[in-house]
Amino acid sequence: MEKYKIVVAHDSDNFFNEALSEISSGPEHFKNLNLLLQHLSNGSPKMTLASFEKFFKAGGIIVIATHNNEIIGMATLVTVTKLNGVTGRIEHVVVDPVHQGNGLSRKLMDELIKIARSKKLRYLDLTTEPKRIAANGLYQSLGFIKRETNPYRLIL
Ligand SMILES: CC(C)(COP(=O)(O)OP(=O)(O)OC[C@H]1O[C@@H](n2cnc3c(N)ncnc32)[C@H](O)[C@@H]1OP(=O)(O)O)[C@@H](O)C(=O)NCCC(=O)NCCS
Repeated sequence: MEKYKIVVAHDSDNFFNEALSEISSGPEHFKNLNLLLQHLSNGSPKMTLASFEKFFKAGGIIVIATHNNEIIGMATLVTVTKLNGVTGRIEHVVVDPVHQGNGLSRKLMDELIKIARSKKLRYLDLTTEPKRIAANGLYQSLGFIKRETNPYRLIL
């Protein structure tokens, strides 16, 4: 496991100067992150410097897994401020297929759950498609309970 590193970033400085300090600079960060994103959804907009700035400004937290100074896994936590309290949403959980099965997503999720507890969020929500066997196994093994609700979306 020594060759893998798990790093958390809460803001752009954290992300670029600390988390990514040993990683090749510039657009390479986004290339690797956007390659990972393709495993989640083909048509989704790309991550950019501007989208990262917005994400951190809104209180987002990213945890990344690196291997030989390359980003090979990620997971994010965003907080949702509701009338009756603050909750969290986990998004963009993905590990490069070459590195799957090494316990990395569990470590990424453990970090985010620890942070969510320390922020006293009421609960964490996430969704995943039924066909994503590994993801469903991961979330259930972490104690996430499947809810009977229909997720809806209005594309704007
Ligand atoms: C889901 C995903 C992130 C798991 O990453 P990973 O680093 O390989 O997972 P880990 O090695 O940390 O395994 C953690 C747990 O996940 C579950 N799991 C992992 N692979 C599994 C598989 N093929 N079948 C069933 N459960 C699996 C197990 O509970 C495992 O714990 P265990 O090893 O103690 O049994 C990875 O498969 C992935 O990136 N898939 C494509 C993207 C995706 O579906 N993301 C989720 C979108 S919501």
